[in-house]
Amino acid sequence: MPVVAVIGAQWGDEGKGKIVDMLSEKAKYVVRFSGGDNAGHTVVNPHGEFKLRLTPSGIFYKETTSVIGNGVVVNPAVLNKEIDDLNARGIDTSRLLISDRAHLIMPYHIVIEGLEEEALGGKAIGTTRKGIGPAYADKVARTGIRAGDLLDKEVLRERLATALENKNKILTKIYGADALSFDDIYTQYCQYADRWAPCICDTSAVLAEAIARNEPVLLEGAQGTLLDPDYGTYPYTTSSSPMAAGACLGAGIAPNKLTHTLGVFKAYQTRVGAGPMPTELNDETGNAIRELAQEYGTVSGRPRRCGWFDAVAARLTARVNGFNSLAITRLDVLDKLPRLRICTGYKVDGQVIDNFPASTTTLVKCQPVYEDLPGWQKTTGKTRVFNDLPVKAQKYIKRLEELVGCPVSHISIGQRREETIVRKSVF
Ligand code: IMP
Repeated sequence: MPVVAVIGAQWGDEGKGKIVDMLSEKAKYVVRFSGGDNAGHTVVNPHGEFKLRLTPSGIFYKETTSVIGNGVVVNPAVLNKEIDDLNARGIDTSRLLISDRAHLIMPYHIVIEGLEEEALGGKAIGTTRKGIGPAYADKVARTGIRAGDLLDKEVLRERLATALENKNKILTKIYGADALSFDDIYTQYCQYADRWAPCICDTSAVLAEAIARNEPVLLEGAQGTLLDPDYGTYPYTTSSSPMAAGACLGAGIAPNKLTHTLGVFKAYQTRVGAGPMPTELNDETGNAIRELAQEYGTVSGRPRRCGWFDAVAARLTARVNGFNSLAITRLDVLDKLPRLRICTGYKVDGQVIDNFPASTTTLVKCQPVYEDLPGWQKTTGKTRVFNDLPVKAQKYIKRLEELVGCPVSHISIGQRREETIVRKSVF
């Protein structure tokens, strides 16, 4: 039975929320496997428009169990608010499970991240300041607090006391900030424990049983591969792996169970936060794309940096994820443009290269080498069949397939579920 991973193939914000929402209809389990509330998934469905941060997009389907996997970092305050908001809008959230191995974001993670970013000044990463990096740092440093620790308040007390003693030294002695109160945090997290304990379990075991019963599982990516700490534009990356390998690890599913990896690309390219982006357009066209597509962060509201499709970066993300097929989203955004460009190589130090360099110092020097294609200048939003797309739009998609070396199975031409061309089903 299918286990499908939906993976961000650029710098996040590729429109995964819509694709996942659409595919969730057929899934019995939808699993978030990485990141935390730094993600922002916009979903437009018959219930309305929703901006999810932490809750898996499967939450809208009554028959689907939504799982927050072990690879996620959970801010329980954000989860409380998100679930309350969904309930207030009539969405049943009773089928939510949280991995006992998922780490918790604690108040000191958020405070320390803010201080670190301030201290970096002009070299700041431009993080979402949700405490994501510090929470993953504690996970690796073995000082984190996990959802499972909420199931035993004495364990919680002990782990919090040890962690906070150290964090308060950092806050007061390094940053000259105020110490945080143990009692306040402990009382707060005991309340979260009372609310979430019934949902906390070994979700990896639950998923293994589901797979054994042949039930379809969907792994919902957050962020994108170019933000991966290993393969992204380090250090301008996030702190957990948004890749297919990260999906297996963060959901607790063996790699040989994955049946399809769907790479999601926008028909162009965007980025939020700092770090190199070779095809960024600091001109009229970049502004036009931003305004046409309303490219502003779902979580932060920050304007997104816009640019042409980067096939050099795309080849890297296709290779390291092993995409079986691609979803190209927001093709309709390009409807009005008279000319389109695709970056096929980079010119750096007098040479043309076609591989994505590891070094950000090299990346900032890369000048894109472009191939130009004519725009179709026709509306695509109502198309449901590939051959009904304007011929120039078909050529654009076919060229992307050639350059990335992978077939396009889904094309999104609007926000709603039905505004999608499905050339090959993944379930
Ligand atoms: P962090 O994940 O908050 O630590 O932020 C690190 C970098 O990843 C920053 O450049 C963020 O803007 C970026 N980032 C994190 N989450 C997302 C996302 O969901 N979409 C796009 N960019 C993201």
